[in-house]
Amino acid sequence: MGLHNNTRENLSVPQHRGGLINKYRDRLPVAAQTRAISLEEGDTPLVELHNISKDLDVPISLHVKYEGMNPTGSFKDRGMTMAVTKAVEEGSQAIICASTGNTSASAAAYAARAGIKAFVLVPDGQIAMGKLAQAMMHGSVVIQIKGNFDEGMHLVKEIAEQAPLTIVNSINPYRLQGQKTVAFEVVEQLGAAPDYHCLPVGNAGNITAHWMGYAECARGSNNTTTKACSYCSGKCPYARDLVQTRPVMVGYQASGAAPFIKGKSIENPETVATAIRIGNPQSWEFAWSASRESDGWFDHCTDEEILKAHKLLAEREGIFCEPASAISIAGALRDIRNGKIPPRSTVVCTVTGHGLKDPNTAISQCEGRLLTVTAKTDTVKRAIFDNL
Ligand code: F0G
Repeated sequence: MGLHNNTRENLSVPQHRGGLINKYRDRLPVAAQTRAISLEEGDTPLVELHNISKDLDVPISLHVKYEGMNPTGSFKDRGMTMAVTKAVEEGSQAIICASTGNTSASAAAYAARAGIKAFVLVPDGQIAMGKLAQAMMHGSVVIQIKGNFDEGMHLVKEIAEQAPLTIVNSINPYRLQGQKTVAFEVVEQLGAAPDYHCLPVGNAGNITAHWMGYAECARGSNNTTTKACSYCSGKCPYARDLVQTRPVMVGYQASGAAPFIKGKSIENPETVATAIRIGNPQSWEFAWSASRESDGWFDHCTDEEILKAHKLLAEREGIFCEPASAISIAGALRDIRNGKIPPRSTVVCTVTGHGLKDPNTAISQCEGRLLTVTAKTDTVKRAIFDNL
């Protein structure tokens, strides 16, 4: 028997109007009639790390905001729903970005959803396999350049001046407007702002957007929220008095790709965390404002520390993220242990991308874990009993 037409009424399922533009329409630069290009992004889990906290021996309330649970597996979808919605509204037929992988996957998906074209520039051989598969499957034109992200970004800016293409990197202000909603959700989920918010920093758009969101939730005097946002020239129409405090913002970079720690851009960034293999961050000034205004700091973690946290989060908490995302855990754990983040703090780490994005790095972390045996009862039993 097929489903009856009135199944929805029988089950009392409300009409689902998901996606962050619909949810936060009055806190985003969209009109009531703007058609949202959405894949029902946002509304991601905030998961408390019970096991890792227990191991720490320091009383702490430690959480991850699991942004890998967005439709294309990364936080980029929050910005992309806004950027593509506005591009379509303004009549654009094609979008372009440079990417270390996740932006290209997200741009490709939202362009497919909107029925427009996407061109993505990625560093040849330096993007994780899952991300490349996504960009290709969604039908974007994938252009691998013999160069790094920073060179790709430079090319995109130059080419977009000569062709009818909308840039959807985070220099597009709508990207950060969408991404700020992550802070709205954390405030709703915790019922307050956390004391510390830790996250990976590459191009530095996301730390800026997080801070914009928190600043809008806790309006300062005369509606000025933060210098990290220039969207409304200092008079923020989205400022609210939802909470009284804002978190300290802590940004971590890979040691081989750490311009914020060096204090200047670097020529040849290198790290296993390919998503944040960036030497010339586009949101440099904004991110410094976020850091200064929140009394925060930037620090760096080695590839070894990143991979250790990558594995720890998967093994101890069942949360699988990509290497770049794990840097927020690596850094936070170090700063909790050394007291920079004091005991009894509430800490949120943004886990920016899903682990399935980069299966190669994950598998290389598990050497010796694959047991291959003959298809016989005794050999399989032995493999089980030896490991009980
Ligand atoms: N984590 C992941 C998984 C990312 O993909 C990125 C950036 C970041 C963190 C850093 O965020 O750039 O706002 O500081 N990925 C971009 C891309 C550069 O092209 O996918 P950011």
